[in-house]
Amino acid sequence: MSTRGLFDDMGLDGVHELGPRACVLRGFARPVAGDLLKAINEVARISAFRHLVTPGGYTMSVAMTNCGALGWTSDRRGYRYSAIDPYTGSPWPAMPDSFKRLAHDAAAAAGFEAFEPDACLINRYAPGAKLSLHQDKDERDLGAPIVSVSLGMPAVFLFGGLRRDDPTAKVPLFHGDVAVWGAEDRLRYHGVMPLKDDPHPDLGSYRINLTFRKAG
Ligand code: SIN
Ligand code: FE2
Repeated sequence: MSTRGLFDDMGLDGVHELGPRACVLRGFARPVAGDLLKAINEVARISAFRHLVTPGGYTMSVAMTNCGALGWTSDRRGYRYSAIDPYTGSPWPAMPDSFKRLAHDAAAAAGFEAFEPDACLINRYAPGAKLSLHQDKDERDLGAPIVSVSLGMPAVFLFGGLRRDDPTAKVPLFHGDVAVWGAEDRLRYHGVMPLKDDPHPDLGSYRINLTFRKAG
């Protein structure tokens, strides 16, 4: 059965298929967006947004923080997951229950049962910020999907293939959309085009993305 058939009566705005095991659940997170934004502010009060440096010495345009048992971080020595926020010397803030529930339910809606993320990377984009094409492959458990929640200003998501030079689909992502990819689509290259300034009523000139993963 196609994924779309499963969702016709779920009250979603629709499902946009990106691959056999990859889709965008339009508007899936919209009902809980207010709770998510409150929780993001609390996380950022403890572990502030910061612009990480890549191993190549480039400062990322996207500001990042994390919550959950493990957080993704980068410096001149490489990319890695860490239980400690290197900026505070303390564990990352706990993952709020509202985050866990949303990630689990979105994964299930996309056909991935029993998703229990231990890492949530929080990406904050201001106008002009972008994310170059990359694969999410620092996680130990590649059997679990990626669940990626968009809040605030719209973005153009690039979704490619398993090779960096495969063609990329350009997929607009709006406030409340949730992208999910796993199984044979788990290692597909993806990125975000430079953000346009198109202020959002709740978030002004920002876009926030939550990326849930099973990292450990
Ligand atoms: C990511 O790949 O980590 C983020 C994708 C996004 O911001 O939509
Ligand atoms: Fe990614």
